[in-house]
Amino acid sequence: MNESNQTPETPESKEPISYWGYINLDELLSLQHPETDAHDELQFIIVHQTFELWFKLAIYELEGAIKHLKSNDISGGIRLLNRVGAILRTAVKGFDPLMTMSQQGYAEFRDALKPASGFQSMQFRVIETLLGFERVSSGENGEKCFYWESAVQAGATFDNFMAKYHDQLLKDYEAMGQDNLRRLMLRLTENAVGAKGVEAYRELEERRSELPELYTLAEAARDLQQALLDFRLGHHKVTVFTIGKHMAGTSDSHAAGHPSCAEYLLNVIKDRSVIFLELEEAAMS
Ligand code: HEM
Repeated sequence: MNESNQTPETPESKEPISYWGYINLDELLSLQHPETDAHDELQFIIVHQTFELWFKLAIYELEGAIKHLKSNDISGGIRLLNRVGAILRTAVKGFDPLMTMSQQGYAEFRDALKPASGFQSMQFRVIETLLGFERVSSGENGEKCFYWESAVQAGATFDNFMAKYHDQLLKDYEAMGQDNLRRLMLRLTENAVGAKGVEAYRELEERRSELPELYTLAEAARDLQQALLDFRLGHHKVTVFTIGKHMAGTSDSHAAGHPSCAEYLLNVIKDRSVIFLELEEAAMS
């Protein structure tokens, strides 16, 4: 029904579809609200918004891939995983414009953003979880937490993020159960080759001509792992060049036991670059 005159909408009375209407262009272009008059802040906002849009699509496609794999449609899963890789690599190019920003340019608006930080990107955490990062034991009593909970010390950046997203992330994590990409791919491989864990991937390597789809799936997963590393390396480069040697970001949640945000980022690169642990171990031996 057409709300204004309560007459049924006919194809003739409907507004012709337009480019601007279809993609909600007016709304999209009205979503940038700089906190300062600094010239470079608009770029900073748009780059972050663009990343979040790509993240949204990556999550959608990853969930699609997982659905295919759960129903044993391996080629459908591979097709969407390849798409996620392409999306993440396209997103990473988004760091390039930020590389044209000088440290002074960033300093003009950086303080106005405190204590907000990309650390608080909920969608980034969802991507990590869908790929296979799982909750880890931490502290003396070995309680489970997301790895990033034990990697930083509390502060407004961390507390605000936990208050807004933690319960939702935990609920989604529990709903996903054993169906992250790492576990799903391992299960499929184990069932096909009749071996467990690292051994299953060793077997797959030996029987690759007999099981080409599963082998291609493993390659697609490794490619995604590299795409996420590309994100982290690109991000690290940008932080080094825009916050420089002082390494003080906008966050107040510093790496636990480390003096700077940059060390937090380096530690994540060091400790979290491998997602598909069994696959990687099999590839190394
Ligand atoms: C001038 C540009 C940027 C600077 C200086 C910067 C700085 C930082 C710093 C210092 C951290 C460490 C965590 C913290 O202390 O809060 C961080 C984390 C993070 N930033 Fe950025 N960032 C920039 C651009 C971006 C962009 C464009 C994105 C895209 C979404 C992004 C996403 C993230 C994510 C996801 C994390 C968490 C990384 C992890 O835990 O592995 N950042 N950022």
